[in-house]
Amino acid sequence: MNTAQIEEKDPKAEALITQQFNAVTPENIMKAEIIHPQWDKYNFDLADKLVDYAKKHNMIVNAHNLIWHSQLPVFVRRMKDADSVRQYFVNHINTVASRYDGKVYSWDVVNEALNEDGTMRKSIFLEKLGDDFVVDAFRLAQKAAPHTKLYYNDYNIEQPKKRAGAIALIKKIQAAGVRIDGVGIQGHWHVDNVPMEDIEQSIKEFSALGIEVMFTELDLSVLPNPRGRSNSADISQTANYNAQINPYTKELPDSMQQKLATAYTDLFKLFLKYNDKISRVTFWGVNDGQSWLNGFPVPGRTNYPLLFDREFKPKPAFYKVIETKTKGSANKTF
Ligand code: XIL
Repeated sequence: MNTAQIEEKDPKAEALITQQFNAVTPENIMKAEIIHPQWDKYNFDLADKLVDYAKKHNMIVNAHNLIWHSQLPVFVRRMKDADSVRQYFVNHINTVASRYDGKVYSWDVVNEALNEDGTMRKSIFLEKLGDDFVVDAFRLAQKAAPHTKLYYNDYNIEQPKKRAGAIALIKKIQAAGVRIDGVGIQGHWHVDNVPMEDIEQSIKEFSALGIEVMFTELDLSVLPNPRGRSNSADISQTANYNAQINPYTKELPDSMQQKLATAYTDLFKLFLKYNDKISRVTFWGVNDGQSWLNGFPVPGRTNYPLLFDREFKPKPAFYKVIETKTKGSANKTF
């Protein structure tokens, strides 16, 4: 949910959310730069509102996120010495995670700590706190939020090398005797290139660690990738606009609607096959109009990555996804 939706300024969105979803995630408002803008100042208003909203509508909140190198407040980005970073890290996790313990269902404790080759990403946390910062974050979260599920979340961790890195990281947390309950595969993919085999293998390998597997930010871009850019959800890697990579400014042609529907069908068939291992699927946005993919990695485009269109109407892909369940034998109640 974005800010307008959390503030209940968008009645159409609210009608759809309460009708179609049983779990919500804040797109931005629980990230450090918003919830903790200054050393000694926290902005809990919107997060509190989200918690109340979810309670009122009988939904769970999956909170996103505690520790991430992006969307950090300015005061943290400017920090030079390790002691300050350590103090921020401890205060932030303690304050935010304990406030919402028992109120949110889960936290993405650490987001995007890995490089594509599976090594640890260079970030302020790695540089100032060292290799163990992920274990430390989970240890602090476990203490501050004993009633909250704790997850590691990242993009492209279905890819073999990055997956191996994620598995090593999760094993390290477990070996330290620290609780980790699940792993979130973000799922920002392209309609032409959904890595089905890697996803299946990942479900098997991650669940073999004894943790939940989730798809936490699902969307399928239908627009051409900018030249030379591989599929990545790294929010710092953007590209310039040109009209050739924005082909569907008026509407999505039928052939593309069908292609999207087929890609989503294949994905949800796989999810149903492993429904005993997958605890949640979350879309990154309610409808196409509000998707971040209209602005990322290229600003000003018209993308169609979700199941509901700009008028909040279900797209062909929506009906196909529903059919995977009503026509299949698999059954799961949340
Ligand atoms: C994105 C939001 O959707 C945008 O509104 C914001 O400007 C940048 O971040 N991986 C994540 C999410 O874990 O937090 C990112 O969300 C998308 C990539």
